[in-house]
Amino acid sequence: MVFPEESWYLSRVELKQHAAHISGIGAYVPERRLHNEELAQIMDTSDDWIYSHTGIRYRHVAAEEEAASDLAVKAAHGALDAAHLAPDAVDLVLVATSTPDYIGLPSTACVVQDKLRITGAGAMDLVAACTGFIYGLETARTFIAAGAARHVLVIGSEVYSRIVNWEDRKSSVLFGDGAGAVVVSAVDTARSAPAAGHIFPALLGSRGSGAETLCRLHGGTRHPYVPGVTPESATLLQMDGRSVYTFAVAALVEVIQTLLERNRLSFQDIAWVVPHQANTRIITAAARRGGWDAERFYMNIEEYANTSAASIPIALDEMNRKKLLSPGDLLLFVGFGSGLTYGGNLLRW
Ligand code: UT7
Repeated sequence: MVFPEESWYLSRVELKQHAAHISGIGAYVPERRLHNEELAQIMDTSDDWIYSHTGIRYRHVAAEEEAASDLAVKAAHGALDAAHLAPDAVDLVLVATSTPDYIGLPSTACVVQDKLRITGAGAMDLVAACTGFIYGLETARTFIAAGAARHVLVIGSEVYSRIVNWEDRKSSVLFGDGAGAVVVSAVDTARSAPAAGHIFPALLGSRGSGAETLCRLHGGTRHPYVPGVTPESATLLQMDGRSVYTFAVAALVEVIQTLLERNRLSFQDIAWVVPHQANTRIITAAARRGGWDAERFYMNIEEYANTSAASIPIALDEMNRKKLLSPGDLLLFVGFGSGLTYGGNLLRW
C-alpha cells in the first residue's frame, strides 16, 4: 500500500545519483579592521608577538548590531548572485556556526532563510566549529547525490569577537569575524561539458575525547550558568593552545594524505590546498611534515585572523576574485577544530 505522503515524496524526489558542484561563491567581512597594535593598547601583547607566533596582523570585528545571520545573509547574497539563482530555488539552507544568533535554538539558518525570503526549503545549523564548512559541503553533496536537493546554500558565519575572553591574550588575539557562502548545485549533465567541476566524497573525522580542549565550559546543560556563582569568563571561549596545535598539525597531514591516497592522486595533482586558517605555523609545519610545497596552501590569515567556519569560503571567494581558480583544477579543503573535529573535501573546479 502506498500512503499519500509517500507518493507525494516520490514524485518530488528523483531517486538517482547526481554529481554536485559549487555554482556560486560569496563572502562578507565587517568593516571594522583591528590591527594588532590596537590590541596591544588593551592587553599585554604586541604586534611582534602575534605576527611572529601566528601570521595574524588584522582581524575584522562585527558592529554592535551585527549578528552571525547578518554576516551570513550578505555572504549568501553574493553566492546566489554568482550562481544566478533566485532564493526560492534553494532546497536547503545550512549554516555552519559556533557563534549562532541565539544559544541553541532557534537555528541561525532559520533566521537566514527568513531574511533571504527563501520559501519551501529546510534550514538547519551545523556545529563542527572550525571544520563546519567542510562538514557543510559534504552534507550538501550527499543531499544532492541522494537526489533530495538540487541547490543547497552552505554558509560559514562567525562572530567570535562576542565569545572570546578579551582578558585572555592567549586566545582572544587569534580570532576574527566574517562569513563565506557557496551554492552547491546538482551538475546538469545534459548542459554541462563532461569536464564540469564536481565534489568528491569527503573525509570527516571526530575525536570527542578532546571536547574540553577548545570549548565554552559553562552555560550549557553540562555546567549550567548559575547567576552570581558562574564567573562570566567560564562562559567564554577557552583553549589549550598547545594541545590544539599538536592535534591540528597531525590532522592536516592525515587528511591530505588520506584524500590523496583514496583518490590515487599525488600532491603534484592538487592546484591549491585551501586550509582552515588558525595559525600560519600550523600550516607550514604540516606542509613540512608532509613534504609538500607550502606555497600551494592558500593563506590570507594576516588580514582576517581565524574566522572558524568562515575561513575556507572567505579564502575561496578571494581566490575566485583574484582569478586563481581555473576549470579542471583540483582543490583540497582541509580543516580541524573544536569537537575535536577534522576533515577535508576534494573538488574538481
Ligand atoms: O581553529 C582552532 C583554533 N585554535 C588554534 O588553532 C590554536 C592552536 N595553537 C596555537 O596556535 C599556539 O599554541 C598559540 C598561538 C595559541 C600559542 O603559541 P605558543 O608558541 O604555543 O605559545 P605559548 O602558549 O607556549 O606561550 C608562550 C609565551 C607564554 O609566556 P611565558 O609563559 O613563556 O612567559 C605566554 O604567556 O607567550 C606568551 N603569550 C603571549 N605573549 C604576548 C601567549 N599569548 C600571548 C600574546 N602576546 N597574545
